[in-house]
Amino acid sequence: MSTNVNDTNVTIDQTRSTLHSVSMSTTLGKVMPRIPALMSLKKTALVGALALLVSACAEDKPLNTFEPRGPRAEAIDKLMQPIWVIMAIVFVLVVFGTIGLAMKNRVKPEDYDEDDLPEQVHGNFKLEIGWTIAPAVLLAAISIPTVVGIWELEETNSDPAAGECRANADGARSGELDVMVIGQQWWWEYRYDIDCDGFFEDVDGDGEIYGPNGAGGDLDDAEWPLNIALDDDDLVIANQLVIPAGEQIDLELTSRDVIHSFWIPRLNGKRDTVPGRIHTWSLEADEPGEYTGWCTEYCGLSHARMRMSSVALSGEEFDAWLDNQLGLAEVPSESDEEVWAGYQLFQANCMSCHVVNDGNLSYGPPVVEGEELPDLEPGTVKDFESALTAGAAPNLTHFATRTVFAGAIYSQYAGIDADDDNIDVGEYFELSVDDGNPDGDYRLNAAILKRWIANAPDQKAMAPEDLRGMPAFPALSEEDLDHLVAYLATLD
Ligand code: CUA
Repeated sequence: MSTNVNDTNVTIDQTRSTLHSVSMSTTLGKVMPRIPALMSLKKTALVGALALLVSACAEDKPLNTFEPRGPRAEAIDKLMQPIWVIMAIVFVLVVFGTIGLAMKNRVKPEDYDEDDLPEQVHGNFKLEIGWTIAPAVLLAAISIPTVVGIWELEETNSDPAAGECRANADGARSGELDVMVIGQQWWWEYRYDIDCDGFFEDVDGDGEIYGPNGAGGDLDDAEWPLNIALDDDDLVIANQLVIPAGEQIDLELTSRDVIHSFWIPRLNGKRDTVPGRIHTWSLEADEPGEYTGWCTEYCGLSHARMRMSSVALSGEEFDAWLDNQLGLAEVPSESDEEVWAGYQLFQANCMSCHVVNDGNLSYGPPVVEGEELPDLEPGTVKDFESALTAGAAPNLTHFATRTVFAGAIYSQYAGIDADDDNIDVGEYFELSVDDGNPDGDYRLNAAILKRWIANAPDQKAMAPEDLRGMPAFPALSEEDLDHLVAYLATLD
């Protein structure tokens, strides 16, 4: 390595002297004899560029957009391949053409004559027309499949503006699934419209839907902001999107705070999530597996730690998963002392932001902006929306069925590497519907979970004072943390 560094230094020195010569000389001819020095600089640059290129190549990486695992991502890949070829041809023609012409037409040092001015030309009309028209034609040719591709990617199974959904009223899934994706600083929430009544609830049947501040809105207004009322019979989960493999899932994307971008590269391209707007998108995975993604729009402190995890299950596994998710969380028995202690701690410390729907939640009156919260019975939540989500923190009703937590930056189970998207989906599924498999290969990552609960902002930059992220809990003892984790482990 040291030899290389020395070589580079020599090259830099040579370049310096070359540059010095350039500044000293006034004509191109004097520089030409210095070509060898320039060439070794080129070599160094070329080796550096190649090293960068090669280090960017890796097979079977979760964020590799060139390894599509679903029809949408495949369509993008198919569009990209010929464009790469065209790009490569244009690159070679322009770069090597320029270099070739410069070499061919240079003045040889022995032929150089200070008084011999080059032939004065004022452009070549045919050439200029040519290199104006050729790129225009090329861009037009590329734009046609690109625009058609964009339109095709926009297509969804159902019309979200009309509140369409394909599930049965009794909750059984009979067709395509609609999922609302809500970007938040710095995690993702997923709301499944299970009962096919759309995402907007008309609480008293007067055609108005309600937000947490008691504001109404038109049911057909697809641009209704995020503070919509939620059905208590729909499903709200966080961090990990679970979908059936081989089916197109329609997504409605929006954001609670700032613009984020939803991107699971192996399943589809990027789509921005914008507060107050709903963008449609869809996902389809050919095979069961885990597909990871990343927020790709800079969104503040922990943008870099706003990851996505998507698990595709076979149809049967998915239906069983859904059944399980729709069930309530179990209220622990007092005889199970550790879990009971954790449950009490959770109620006291966590329930003001997180929701665990164990059947004790009920709707309260809408909160009116500027007014004090009404006194509510214990177990009553403060507004419609909060029955399923507090709006600021993940719903943890079936926490233990997920394989990731903390915005999908940590693996929830020992035995599953968060960066490994080749987990055994069958085993994952087993742990989601059984008892969390506490003694098997997949044990709850208790140490990491405890560290997270004790001081989350220490591990992921957040602003809990502004309801952006989770505060630290310095008052919780080691034993308290053990009890909390024991309770969380029961949420399967
Ligand atoms: Cu969310 Cu970047």
